[in-house]
Amino acid sequence: MKLALAADHGGYELKELIIGYLSNRDDLELIDLGTNSCDSVDYPKYGRECAELVAAGQADRGIVFCGTGIGISIAANRIKGVRCALATNVFMAEMSRKHNNANMLALGGRVLSPEEAIAIVDVWLSTEFEGGRHQRRIDLLD
Ligand code: RB5
Repeated sequence: MKLALAADHGGYELKELIIGYLSNRDDLELIDLGTNSCDSVDYPKYGRECAELVAAGQADRGIVFCGTGIGISIAANRIKGVRCALATNVFMAEMSRKHNNANMLALGGRVLSPEEAIAIVDVWLSTEFEGGRHQRRIDLLD
């Protein structure tokens, strides 16, 4: 799976932690879209760039990070075809895959502990979409 990751300064440290955590997985090709420091940047740019990659099929899925996860999830969801789920716990991450077929995940660097974020990412990457009535609802989004 090609997995794109992007963050603003509020999510930078958590992005780095998750990239480090995932970097030895053979089944993942990680695409790091920045930012690459704690210097202040604008989350709409990073959310859009990651979402555009996913929407274009150049990445299978994306994970975006900002302080809360809110702003960058809003930015990503402006791009047609993207379903970016903000998750603050494992249940939300699991359901975002099972019911919403979320192709992007948003996490808050100022919200989650490293352990919580890793647990969320693990579940989100490994959970399959259930299809059926949920596909019909997703079709209604567009
Ligand atoms: C940046 O200070 C902060 O506003 C941003 O990271 C994010 O939390 C916005 O939703």
